[in-house]
Amino acid sequence: MLTRMLGYFGRVFPQLKRAFWSRLYERMARDRDPEWLFMNYGFVDAASPAPVLEPADEHDRLAIQLYHHVIDTGELPGKDVLEVGCGRGGGVGYMARYLRPRFLVGLDLSPRALTLSRIRGHGQHVQFVCGDAQALPFPPARFDAVVNVESSHCYPVMENFLAEVFRVLRPGGLLLYADLRFHEAVGRLQTQVRAPGFRVLRERDITRNVLRALELDTPRRAALINRKVPGVMQGSFQAFAGMAGTRFYEMLAHGRGAYLSFVLQKPA
Ligand SMILES: C[S@@+](CC[C@H](N)C(=O)[O-])C[C@H]1O[C@@H](n2cnc3c(N)ncnc32)[C@H](O)[C@@H]1O
Repeated sequence: MLTRMLGYFGRVFPQLKRAFWSRLYERMARDRDPEWLFMNYGFVDAASPAPVLEPADEHDRLAIQLYHHVIDTGELPGKDVLEVGCGRGGGVGYMARYLRPRFLVGLDLSPRALTLSRIRGHGQHVQFVCGDAQALPFPPARFDAVVNVESSHCYPVMENFLAEVFRVLRPGGLLLYADLRFHEAVGRLQTQVRAPGFRVLRERDITRNVLRALELDTPRRAALINRKVPGVMQGSFQAFAGMAGTRFYEMLAHGRGAYLSFVLQKPA
């Protein structure tokens, strides 16, 4: 109910929605835990070989597998890549080390999350920029690919974000995208992603893959929330974190929502 009310007010008062998410992620970034690099629900695909990771990355395997699924096009090495909604920088670090793009920019609304990302230092070809997904601070045709993982549900006007991505992509460039939506918004998303002129190269409903990751990760999430969040707020955080048996997990598990991924191309 609360989430639907937020959704409604967010559509009527877009700045309110932006302010809500901006405050929430800024607050979460006060926790400077160096082990906490990712903020997505994760992904498991029993039908495909799991990506080979360095031992130090095993801790984040489920979150990395979501990135791996989204960007697994073979297109990023040697390219100019932007991640919009990069959070604490885990995805940027993964792409920088495993895919070796020529130039990689992580953009987020939360200055504190970006400070955490910068601390880890990924080399001179990686930059972090504070900005809004709906007004990207880059010239037209600057990037070969834009990556967007579990961030767009926060944007007040999805169409503005998609138009901006279309603008900053070079002809032939790719938007590599994944996020969740309530059931009634799934059709709207499918229309929205096509509207700027993108060609859909791949569209997948990955709800089952995300649910499986959440099931596997629920004990770790529960332990973290127990340790970090005051008792009265633990229920809301458990739901927000998608723990099995809580609100967003149940929404996805019972068809009241879906988690989708797309590979979209700006025509050459
Ligand atoms: C669930 S986190 C996902 C972070 C990262 N992609 C990951 O998988 O770990 C969503 C991120 O989107 C960012 N965000 C929300 N609204 C945004 C906006 N309007 N512009 C840029 N980033 C935004 C938040 O600050 C947060 O870091």
